[in-house]
Amino acid sequence: MKGLSIEVTLITSVVVFMSSCAPPQPTKIVPAEFKAGQNYYHRVCANCHGADALGKQTRAPGLIDPEYLSENFSDEEIYIQIIEGSDKMPSQRSKVSDPEVAEIIKYLRYSQKAAGNIVEEDEPDDGDEE
Ligand code: HEC
Repeated sequence: MKGLSIEVTLITSVVVFMSSCAPPQPTKIVPAEFKAGQNYYHRVCANCHGADALGKQTRAPGLIDPEYLSENFSDEEIYIQIIEGSDKMPSQRSKVSDPEVAEIIKYLRYSQKAAGNIVEEDEPDDGDEE
């Protein structure tokens, strides 16, 4: 019986260790067509950019931010950032295929919209619709 309890302790600590290394889990439920992108995002990007790309408690910026809307940061720029990386972000070329990157971008665009991100206009919009 002693042997068994050591085994149980070992298994428990391995499970605890593994779960502390796993990327943060998504908290948002997305429509089916964005699920694949969400999965790839969580496999590759979430460790640095945070669950749901919000960048909370991580060293990388949250991507659900007006700064990264397509008007300010195009799909192509995201693609280049992923493939080439930057000073602070390692290239993810070996981790994702082009179709996976496309799905990730689709998922990020959906999440930005769902979060109500809008581009701040320099000039106030005077189209008063009331
Ligand atoms: C190892 C950590 C790490 C991983 C993995 C990672 N990033 Fe980053 N990312 C960073 C850091 C750090 C920055 C800030 C880089 C900078 O300021 O140059 C960044 C910046 C960015 C930017 C903004 C660049 C800018 O100029 O503002 C985008 C977009 C981005 N990452 C997308 C992604 C996507 C999508 C993935 C997954 C395919 C990903 N990153 C994976 C660490 C990471």
